Amino acid sequence: MDEIWRIAEKHGLWVIEDAAQAMGARYKGTKIGGDPRSIMSVYSFHPNKNMTTGEGGAIAFFNDEFESRIKRLRFHGIDRDAWKRFAKEGSPHTEVFEPGRKANFMDLQAAMGLHQIGKLDGFNARRGVLFHRYLDLMKDIDEVMLPWPGDADHGHCFHLFVLRIHPEKVGLDRDAFVAALKEENIGTGIHYRPAHVHPWYRDFYTAHPQHLPQDGLPHSEWSGERLLSLPLWPGLTEVDQDQVVGAIRQVIARAKSAARTMA
Ligand SMILES: Cc1ncc(COP(=O)(O)O)c(C=O)c1O
Repeated sequence: MDEIWRIAEKHGLWVIEDAAQAMGARYKGTKIGGDPRSIMSVYSFHPNKNMTTGEGGAIAFFNDEFESRIKRLRFHGIDRDAWKRFAKEGSPHTEVFEPGRKANFMDLQAAMGLHQIGKLDGFNARRGVLFHRYLDLMKDIDEVMLPWPGDADHGHCFHLFVLRIHPEKVGLDRDAFVAALKEENIGTGIHYRPAHVHPWYRDFYTAHPQHLPQDGLPHSEWSGERLLSLPLWPGLTEVDQDQVVGAIRQVIARAKSAARTMA
């Protein structure tokens, strides 16, 4: 965030924090979403996030103007919460002030979220235990690069455990590695391919190359080709984790032995 702020201040930019994966995380001791310099911070409660409401999310504001505008936009551009129409003090009239969206959060989702939020610190603590256990279980595997777990200053919320492989050491590229793990009944994710290689952006940048640095984004591409994320959620057991790491070792050993046979 310091680096983002350095750039923002240099160019007079606003900062909106995408905290979709950072529920409960801290930066230099402050909870994400708690920096009043940011215009807003957005969170996702999609089912694979650290807490969920099925779908939906939340926005934390430090700017009243944005808050009232977004509150209006989330419900058809109507300037007041719909439920007040039916309250004693409410007027039955609705007035649309601008074209808005149907992007309101349901009461049912909010009820689920209130329970989830109470469990969030516990969920994140359990994720942290599993994250560190993965690091420990794989510290001797030279063929993989392990993620940084953060330090006391930066409270990681352990949303994903993203591993990068050395394809040249394993003898498999990432996609073949993911497929071999699937054969062992281990499902993994790819978080993420860099945005600029997705078809729409690739076509856009091909048509407008001036918006990309001349040599592309080689670090993003390098990581994007090597990464995969391992199963990680609070309900994962130590036995599950041992199976994941056992499968990783097996896939590497098999690929290396196949390479030796070929040689
Ligand atoms: C970093 C990031 N930003 C934004 C989103 C979008 O969240 P939602 O699906 O709740 O709109 C996600 C969800 O995967 C995300 O990981």
